[in-house]
Amino acid sequence: MLAGKVIMITGASSGIGEAAAWVCAQHGATVVLVARRTERLRQLAAELRDKGAETAFASADVTCPTEVARAVDLAVERYGRLDAAFNNAGATTVSAPLHETDDADYDRVLDVNLRGVWLCMKYEIRAMLAAGTGGAIVNNSSVAGLRATSMGAPYVAAKHAVLGLTKAAAVQYAPSGVRVNALATGLTRSEMSEEVFARDPAAEERMRRRNPQGRVAHSTEVAQAAAWLCSDQASFVTGATMAVDGGAGAW
Ligand SMILES: NC(=O)c1ccc[n+]([C@@H]2O[C@H](COP(=O)([O-])OP(=O)(O)OC[C@H]3O[C@@H](n4cnc5c(N)ncnc54)[C@H](O)[C@@H]3O)[C@@H](O)[C@H]2O)c1
Repeated sequence: MLAGKVIMITGASSGIGEAAAWVCAQHGATVVLVARRTERLRQLAAELRDKGAETAFASADVTCPTEVARAVDLAVERYGRLDAAFNNAGATTVSAPLHETDDADYDRVLDVNLRGVWLCMKYEIRAMLAAGTGGAIVNNSSVAGLRATSMGAPYVAAKHAVLGLTKAAAVQYAPSGVRVNALATGLTRSEMSEEVFARDPAAEERMRRRNPQGRVAHSTEVAQAAAWLCSDQASFVTGATMAVDGGAGAW
């Protein structure tokens, strides 16, 4: 499904991003892994190469333009172009009522989840336009991008804004053959959700009950949707928000 594609994945050092690296590689893609934890990326790259995948990694903080630009440059310099990107890096915070939330928490959550996607799209789209071969971008939003959840106002605001960026870019770049879509991801087993469950042990059961399937997704289930949206099988899909949430949005 992805043979010959060069795909950059942010937040690849764990969770959904790591799962996406495996799924994309299994479908024949060359994967460029991006995150801050260099050792994790080095290890994942070695494991992927052991299974026959072509891969490179760039240590980058998605809030830093020069680091994001360097990661995109790595893909282009090493593999000639960037066909697709999964902008997945994200962060949450201790969920507190809005009036008790630290400004520093607000800044951090908006920086990673929104500015990070903004910067990634900016440099990815520049590379795609320069190559002239189109491309596909998938931004990882959340069910919190569609409605208020218990994850805190800054996270809800950032994930809503990611859907806005996705739609604006989809419309702007459709004539250039660049598709831009988003995932409205539901509760998924990862470092992020484990952190939430550790802080609030009742949260897992509470969140499961709000989900018609009554379970937490495996990160691979979300990664599969991202991989499909990156592929040419999704050629007429752009500006869309795909729910991968066990039916939570239907309730
Ligand atoms: N797990 C869930 O239930 C859930 C639900 C909805 C949406 N999401 C979204 O899925 C995405 C992936 O999260 P996950 O659940 O796999 O959690 P995770 O914590 O395992 O993964 C997040 C990744 O982003 C990386 N990251 C964080 N800040 C970064 C930065 N400044 N620069 C570069 N990388 C950075 C982390 O190191 C990590 O690799 C996030 O955008 C999250 O908001 C997760």
